[in-house]
Amino acid sequence: MSKIPFGPTYSEMLHPETIPAEVRERALGVKETDELDPLNLFNITWKDERGEVRKVVLPKELTGTEANIVVLLGKYFPSGSHKVGPAYATLIEGCIDGAILPGEHTILGPSTGNFGIGVAYICALMGYEAIVIMPDTMSKERYDRILKYGARLDLTPGTESDVILTLRRTHELKQNPKNRPLAQFELLPNYRWHRRVTGNSAIEAVRGIGNGRIACFTSAPGSAGTIAAGDQIKLAFPEARIVALEPYECSTLATGGRGQHRIEGIGDKMCTLIHNILTTDFVALIYDDDCVRGLKVIQDGPSVLAELGVPYKQASAWRDLFGVSGICNILGAIKMAHYLRLGTDDNVVTIATDGFDRYPSVIGDLERRCLGTEDFVLRRWAKDIFLKTNTENIYDFRSRTSKEQLFCQKEKDWLPFGYSKEYLDGMRRAEFWEQEYARVEEYDEKIKRMR
Ligand SMILES: Cc1ncc(COP(=O)(O)O)c(C=O)c1O
Repeated sequence: MSKIPFGPTYSEMLHPETIPAEVRERALGVKETDELDPLNLFNITWKDERGEVRKVVLPKELTGTEANIVVLLGKYFPSGSHKVGPAYATLIEGCIDGAILPGEHTILGPSTGNFGIGVAYICALMGYEAIVIMPDTMSKERYDRILKYGARLDLTPGTESDVILTLRRTHELKQNPKNRPLAQFELLPNYRWHRRVTGNSAIEAVRGIGNGRIACFTSAPGSAGTIAAGDQIKLAFPEARIVALEPYECSTLATGGRGQHRIEGIGDKMCTLIHNILTTDFVALIYDDDCVRGLKVIQDGPSVLAELGVPYKQASAWRDLFGVSGICNILGAIKMAHYLRLGTDDNVVTIATDGFDRYPSVIGDLERRCLGTEDFVLRRWAKDIFLKTNTENIYDFRSRTSKEQLFCQKEKDWLPFGYSKEYLDGMRRAEFWEQEYARVEEYDEKIKRMR
């Protein structure tokens, strides 16, 4: 039996304590000292050295709601965001299926940045050449990282919302049989990874908080991988509401809107192929500049937050933990807590995909656009953006007719890429998603046997 590059199973990423002790220890050893040591593949997990999910719980002095807003932290993953997980899952499944061979194939990573960073990173660890295809207007920090990991960049014109151009470009490059795409918007390892690893980590994260259940999960879809965690959350807590967030300026799912916006990584002007529409209960819209300003408040305003009653030490510890989309997810979580009238016992879980390290240039741009960002401005922003979050712009997608709108959007987006109506119709049934999820066990078996 041929060998595949050495890496963890889905189960081991959820339960790193089950990784053979010597490997886990060595992996933790290289985490801080040698980013490019392949053993770092075993650090792809939401958990810290003690096996605890990395998270923060935001207090009502910031959020204005009694409900517990629990934020899982993606920044501590190797390469700086959880997107490395889906990138690894897609690559390892391709290796197992025999579709991706080391030394023979070049990996294509269509992305708005973080998935591309993840692809460049795991390709460096697993010995593949990589080309990252992304819009040419993302934050500078993203391109720097991709180049640092040795991948090539193939830039398409436009902004975040023009990610469809990256898909078209990937389609072109794919015609060369040497190139193999890790198509995050289309391939189900992304769904499997988030449902198995993120979903179950979210369920563990709320143990001992409030009533220990999840009342609501919010996630702004880019590829709609992260929101797959909601499928697992709903299994454990059937009352949980799963909420997709979109930029107000680009509300494709809610209203068919297709405008430009400032929240990198989300709002890609489509319903992605791997989005399980059946389990999305609501779509809520968040203003893009609220997210950028909110990030500035968290990053530079601990003393302002302390005036509002947040312990200074706690507010200082939040610095560097969030990016713009993380603030979007938090604002969506607060919005839904108000809308669902949640109280002290209730938990809303959300995700900070990455940390501040890739956004200094975005904050630099905000500072150029605003007349001032002194403390009195941050004080006003903290109140207006976090504490006065309202329940406007929430769309209920629980009925069959409203889901039909999303199914139609998906057809519009994916029939042109050669997917059949029959395949897309299959996704209207819950069994499609259950069968795809069940394949986690099959891949885990094969990873163990072949590594
Ligand atoms: C910063 C950021 N936030 C959110 C997302 C959306 O996550 P997902 O693609 O899992 O929907 C991405 C995806 O690349 C991202 O880079």
